[in-house]
Amino acid sequence: MRVVTTAQTPELDVQPTPLALLLLGREADPKSERGVECPGDLPSPSDPDLVERARAAKEKLGDKVFVLGHHYQRDEVIQFADVTGDSFKLARDAAARPEAEYIVFCGVHFMAESADILTSADQKVVLPDLAAGCSMADMATAEQVAECWDVLTEAGVAEQVVPVSYMNSSADIKAFTGKHGGTICTSSNAKRALDWAFEQGEPSTTKVLFLPDQHLGRNTAVRDMGMSLDDCVVYNPHKPNGGLTAEQLRAARMILWRGHCSVHGRFSLDSVNDVRARIPGVNVLVHPECKHEVVAAADYVGSTEYIIKALEAAPAGSKWAIGTELNLVRRLANRFAPEGKEIVFLDKTVCFCSTMNRIDLPHLVWALESLAEGNLVNRIEVDQETEAFAKLALERMLALP
Ligand code: 13P
Ligand code: SF4
Repeated sequence: MRVVTTAQTPELDVQPTPLALLLLGREADPKSERGVECPGDLPSPSDPDLVERARAAKEKLGDKVFVLGHHYQRDEVIQFADVTGDSFKLARDAAARPEAEYIVFCGVHFMAESADILTSADQKVVLPDLAAGCSMADMATAEQVAECWDVLTEAGVAEQVVPVSYMNSSADIKAFTGKHGGTICTSSNAKRALDWAFEQGEPSTTKVLFLPDQHLGRNTAVRDMGMSLDDCVVYNPHKPNGGLTAEQLRAARMILWRGHCSVHGRFSLDSVNDVRARIPGVNVLVHPECKHEVVAAADYVGSTEYIIKALEAAPAGSKWAIGTELNLVRRLANRFAPEGKEIVFLDKTVCFCSTMNRIDLPHLVWALESLAEGNLVNRIEVDQETEAFAKLALERMLALP
């Protein structure tokens, strides 16, 4: 083995690769909905005083700060959240503290953007690590969606199409949705959003362009609205004309964008069959971002908030396999174990959302201490024009019956 000492290496011009820089949370990724630069000196993860530092900074900020935490956040972070919730609840609650100058969003980039859109201009939204994006949101860019609209126009169907965009999308996509008469949805109101969309025109001819999660779109259409799989087509932004003919577009009721969540995509029919064989009597409860065959084989399907409520209501002695992100499943397993509820993760291998996990205690401490010292860091700010149309789409969602 050749041992290279530091004394021998100065002349080596070894540059970190862009990928390495991205993974370190430095450098920008122009293709991403998020930023990836995280300025400032983060405290060491091994600092034994991190919890106390976060507590002290939050106390110093008092009513000036409002901390929101998505259910997929780590325990070390969620303990400092004033409000926890699913994407819908956090969007609704973001504006609940108009007196708070800072909203620290412990979640991912598109959630912080939505909070900025839904709060007043003088409230500042902070994302503790700008690299906390969402790979699904990155699967639909503004250029690709504009091109898709051209394809729909060419096929003569654009006038019949109402866009419905999942919350997990960039502010640009939300603005596109608002501009074209559509609404945003989350996993807790997707059926109501589709009902609303089909009421916007002649129900028999209206079509929905569902962005960017094909699975949520398909699961809602087939499982909750009684459509067939044949009513759905998948638009692939990487293929000419989305890989679809004009006839296919004309015949479809649901045009599903070819996006997915890599975390929920891991669960398979095998995981369901396997857990049923291992744990007789187990209830399988999954998030609707899972593939259609997983959702079809599950006993219950719902958003993270739904999953929590279902487990709260479950009787002692019941057994549950949960198909969603691991931070949440682990927290629920610990919380309900003393009540005699057995909760396991649906897959055999670990399955964290790596970008949700980027918000850790060092980033939270750094953000809170910076704010407490009067330094505004990692602000997420949507430009005014995008905000106006994105807000229209978000407000349509908030007004859904
Ligand atoms: P909900 O919390 O709305 O169920 O969404 C899950 C998710 O993947 C958020 O990114
Ligand atoms: Fe995006 Fe999936 Fe992570 Fe949610 S769990 S933030 S959809 S990658």
